[in-house]
Amino acid sequence: MSPDELLAEARAAAKNAYVPYSGFAVGAAVLTSDGTVVCGANVENASYGLSICAETNAITTAVAAGAREIVAVAVVGGAVGDPNARALATPCGRCRQIIAEFAREDLVVFVEDVPGNERLDIPLAELLPHPFRLRP
Ligand code: THU
Repeated sequence: MSPDELLAEARAAAKNAYVPYSGFAVGAAVLTSDGTVVCGANVENASYGLSICAETNAITTAVAAGAREIVAVAVVGGAVGDPNARALATPCGRCRQIIAEFAREDLVVFVEDVPGNERLDIPLAELLPHPFRLRP
């Protein structure tokens, strides 16, 4: 599974985003250590703070299916209806900590904008230095 293939899965997952409040659709795809790809999209709520990010959705779905290690994450997001949206939907702080629970610090997060013009490949160690861990 190449980064481009994982990004394609994330892009497809964004189509199922439920974003009536922000209008910002995000898809995420995670590659688990056994080679499985699990996708998620952001799911918002009328009580805004309860909204679930695409990355958290994908990771918790993978873990609920039995995964315990993820080896790569891809994210694609942007404003719905704007094919030129240039945002790079880098994972929020909460999602970074959730990634860290199931990943080594050399995991790479691939983030691409909706038009596919801009891409950031960034290791977890840079996204979240010194994550909180209860275990070594
Ligand atoms: N969001 C994600 O799902 N992932 C990110 O990486 C950044 C933000 C969502 C949260 C909210 O539903 C919408 O994008 C706008 O903030």
